[in-house]
Amino acid sequence: MRIVATADLHYDITRSREPTRLIAEEICGLEADALLVLGDVAGRDSGIVLEALRLFDRFRGRKFFVAGNHDIWTGPGGDSLDKLERELPAICRQAGFHPLDVEPAVLGHVGLVGSIGWYDFSYRPRQLGIPLRFYEAKIAPGAADRLPGFQHLLADRSDVPEAAFSIGTRWMDGEHTRLKMSDVEFCQRLVDRLSRHLTEVAGQCDPIVVGMHHVPFAELVPATDTPSWAFAGAFLGSDRFGRALLGQPEVRMLVCGHSHRLDRLRCGHIQCINVGCTYLAKRYEVLDL
Ligand SMILES: [Fe+2]
Ligand SMILES: [Fe+2]
Repeated sequence: MRIVATADLHYDITRSREPTRLIAEEICGLEADALLVLGDVAGRDSGIVLEALRLFDRFRGRKFFVAGNHDIWTGPGGDSLDKLERELPAICRQAGFHPLDVEPAVLGHVGLVGSIGWYDFSYRPRQLGIPLRFYEAKIAPGAADRLPGFQHLLADRSDVPEAAFSIGTRWMDGEHTRLKMSDVEFCQRLVDRLSRHLTEVAGQCDPIVVGMHHVPFAELVPATDTPSWAFAGAFLGSDRFGRALLGQPEVRMLVCGHSHRLDRLRCGHIQCINVGCTYLAKRYEVLDL
């Protein structure tokens, strides 16, 4: 069984369009049983997701999709959960992709399970000393001090280290993701669903391959000395997903994206790969099972 995986195509971003077209062309020419597209296909405009998925029309195997954080961005009045659970699955089916976020799949003896993943701020870098409320608002103290609408975070500055005011990072999910629940609640909802999907296929498949967008193990968070990048690490994922995966012996392989950094490492019994596409350099991984 041969599975091809890619991620972070960002087809809504001008500099990613040509590299995406080229990698899609190359992938369509491969002999493989399945293709996993692991999130951040586009952004607020779902029409571009459809356009991007259509680039794989000529791929001869089965096609699977997992959403990324950018894919559930919406405009004012939108509903990111509805986009994840209803709108994107409908677009996937229209383009001949199976939406793994809402339904696992069985391909011969192999189980395919997927999740966008999410974050619960447990990866936040404690060494920066930034209070949790800034992560919950997805804005670093330097940016909160500069931009309108965030002064409430600075009503009491006594717990904010001076150096943190030089960090100007904003995590743009804070602007474009509209969930009617906290990030921690959303994260747990997704962990529970992933666990259900794993249990569903575990009885009939061995091995199980898991595709995610966010990273499920802290070991996959890139180490950095740059405070703005360290702040962003809080939004890369959560070990809650990793614990669910480690609880299932049939899970042999985890493929993810989101950090835009190629990584290959083992966590417990699971071989982990981060595909590592950047905005300009697209790539894919070939998994032979
Ligand atoms: Fe991305
Ligand atoms: Fe992402």
